[in-house]
Amino acid sequence: MDDRFPAYRGKMEYVCLNCGERYPIDRLLYACPACRGVFLLEDAGFDRLKERDGASWRKLFDARAMTRRRALRGIFRFYELMAPVLEEEDILFLGEGGTPVVEGAPALRKALNARFSFKYDGQNPSASFKDRGMACAYSYLRALVRMHGWDEVLTICASTGDTSAAAALYGAYVGDPIRTVVLLPQGRVTPQQLSQPLGSGAAVLEIPGVFDDCMKVVEHLAEHYRVALLNSKNSWRILGQESYAYEAAQWYGWDLGDKTFFVPVGNAGNITAVMSGLLKLRQLDIIPALPRLFGVQSEHADPVWRYYSRPASERRYEPVTVRPSVAQAAMIGNPVSFPRVRALVERYEAAGGSFGVVQVSEQAIMDATITANRHGHIICTQGGECLAGLLQARADGLVRADEEALLDSTAHILKFADFQNHYLTQTFPSEYGVTPNPDLANAPRLVMDAAEKERIMARAKMAGANNDAPRAFAEAAAAAVAKRLGLSPLSA
Ligand code: F0G
Repeated sequence: MDDRFPAYRGKMEYVCLNCGERYPIDRLLYACPACRGVFLLEDAGFDRLKERDGASWRKLFDARAMTRRRALRGIFRFYELMAPVLEEEDILFLGEGGTPVVEGAPALRKALNARFSFKYDGQNPSASFKDRGMACAYSYLRALVRMHGWDEVLTICASTGDTSAAAALYGAYVGDPIRTVVLLPQGRVTPQQLSQPLGSGAAVLEIPGVFDDCMKVVEHLAEHYRVALLNSKNSWRILGQESYAYEAAQWYGWDLGDKTFFVPVGNAGNITAVMSGLLKLRQLDIIPALPRLFGVQSEHADPVWRYYSRPASERRYEPVTVRPSVAQAAMIGNPVSFPRVRALVERYEAAGGSFGVVQVSEQAIMDATITANRHGHIICTQGGECLAGLLQARADGLVRADEEALLDSTAHILKFADFQNHYLTQTFPSEYGVTPNPDLANAPRLVMDAAEKERIMARAKMAGANNDAPRAFAEAAAAAVAKRLGLSPLSA
């Protein structure tokens, strides 16, 4: 096996998607100094990669799947396609990437008359796909620290919960000279998500409002103070998140022509990265055709759907005011990466791919999440949004029953346990507009209360069998469980 660190070095540049200006990567830039446009990072030497043919790239990446070289174990298996300027010593690996693709449970596929798999990106170290981008952004930051000899770096991000969890985790791992600050919308991040940056020791700051308000604050800070912005406006994040597309292609044997991808859209960094990654695979002939790609948005946060739902000549982008959404991590009214989406969709379609956005109801997201997890899945509400999106696309005649869909479950359900509990206990707050299906209700049932336990233990003690009190309780509890389950004792 070829276990060397790649020799290829690209010539990465920030490219403004608005005015086309290019800037060197020796410093962190988030917006074009000339026109405020957003960037993508491009390898000006990319055409050199075409000297190797598609089959040879596939062979190389397949061989690297077995590497013992730590820096290439995770997302940097696809080093040449992502950030081929980083040195091995700067590359971070916290176990991100390589997330499983799990086929929809047979009974679920049958019930929904659909073929699909989930890619469980909640099985990343901080339990969301954000780790892909954060591994890349922090690796680049480490390179900058080494090159410039910086002795203090303050990273900052706005977040609906997952970016902050990932930023805090990687920041804590790198340690000096990194200090991590996260800015959250008060009360709009789940308790589990909130516990993550706290546990990693980040400074957690909150403001009233929603994610869009936090984003404006950190954009202002990044413009006027010396801070490193870690939102996906930072295009190094996008590069790392491209690894989702590379892994998916590799999983399907590099053949995606008959596949349909569904990706939830919030700040639109993820769909940008997936498109960008797929386009690179196509340009190098690593895949023979592009998959069809659908973004999915909730009716409570749907600016990208609104844009693409109009005929091409009438499209106009307008931010929306969000309403509470169970896909809370994607509850964003003015996605920073929208201009990237618009630019990449043009390239995607020009390369023979097709792109669309579907809108789904809060009810459909929640029903899909709960139903899937009832069938042995671990999808978050944004993963449920993708499943609801597939069902909507089927209903609209956009996808056939025999097409295989890959649904991006961007986080782990445990981060969104409260939404699940609201549903299962039929106590959903009205602002979401979700009515739980009573057939899916589930709640713990107490088989014996504490007072009865006391009585049983006291009775055993009174009978002089002090040591047997716990045993008496265990037997009584077992009898209560058996009665509840209608079990009859084995005959002697
Ligand atoms: N799914 C999850 C679990 C997310 O955390 C996010 C975004 C999305 C989907 C949407 O992805 O923004 O790239 O379009 N979370 C960001 C955050 C905004 O702050 O954690 P996107």
